Amino acid sequence: MTSGFDVEPVRWDDAVLLLDQRRLPFEETWVRCGDVASVVAAVRDLTVRGAPAIGITAAYGMVVAARELAAGGVGDLGTAREGLQEAAGLLRGARPTAVNLGWALDRQLEVVAAAHADVTALSAALLASAQRIHADEVNACHAIGRLGAALVPEDANLLTHCNAGALATGGFGTALGVVRAAVAAGKSVHVWVDETRPVLQGARLTAWELGRAGIPNTLIPDGAAASVMARGRVDVVVVGADRIAANGDVANKIGTYGVALAAAAHDIPFLVAAPCSTVDLDCANGDAIVVEERDPDEVRSVCGQAVAPPAQAVANPAFDVTPAHLVAAIVTERGVVRAPYDTSLRRLTRGLGT
Ligand code: MRU
Repeated sequence: MTSGFDVEPVRWDDAVLLLDQRRLPFEETWVRCGDVASVVAAVRDLTVRGAPAIGITAAYGMVVAARELAAGGVGDLGTAREGLQEAAGLLRGARPTAVNLGWALDRQLEVVAAAHADVTALSAALLASAQRIHADEVNACHAIGRLGAALVPEDANLLTHCNAGALATGGFGTALGVVRAAVAAGKSVHVWVDETRPVLQGARLTAWELGRAGIPNTLIPDGAAASVMARGRVDVVVVGADRIAANGDVANKIGTYGVALAAAAHDIPFLVAAPCSTVDLDCANGDAIVVEERDPDEVRSVCGQAVAPPAQAVANPAFDVTPAHLVAAIVTERGVVRAPYDTSLRRLTRGLGT
């Protein structure tokens, strides 16, 4: 399965193939994951990252799990279902903040629970479902792009944080999907790219993607975003999301909240672009979102080079929560919603099983 888009972080080829995002932009290498343990490790160590991309990866991870069970001699459906529940638990535990991971696994567990002739048929059904999830996420990005592009002025300076591009999705991107679609619509767009410490998704990934697409962009240190806004150089901020609570609070890469505060202080619209699979109506507000705390060495170093004393005390929350009142609009594949989000998000996702 391929999305047909030139940057594809996840592929299926009798195993999960992942473009190794830890090595970009210096090397384009692929990691082959043929067992559940290696899929879990790849999600955890950021070989693959970005909310929709880890959801797609986990969906294929369930296919890998079914094949592993069959190869291990499990022929009985009941035993296979138990093994798949266990695999789903391991995959779900790989990263806690992005809801897309659990959302994709819940869809795969519905397939597991359905009637099947045997384990081979169950495994085939899981693959078909993973490919549907993958295709749906790619289509969602294109729809988000089209809808979001309408909110971008003809001649615009955008600012983005982290990477919500093709690399973070099945292809095309959410926030960068908006950028790509605005450019395709003939708008003149320049993007300010926050470098996004500690692991530099902006510098390493967003700058690489935009450069590859020929879209003008300028990399800035995270600390420069507010002053670029103060100088009148930003028209719109557009970011992705890892989980959107029922009240519209948005979890995204650490630093997003500061960007949203600066945007509000300068009267700049702050847009969130995300598929409906990122909306979690079971989560009342941002306080209920679990923020992943990552390895302190990510902060003590930059690309493997130490930049702080070896035993330096560190806090490394990977995400923060931007309160709904700072969000001008949420762009999804089903439409653009605005405050009050508790009603607009519920109306939007009605019929999606949430
Ligand atoms: O830690 P990461 O790189 O997985 O964090 C990714 C982000 O925060 C993205 O902005 C978010 O997942 C949206 S991706 C379309």
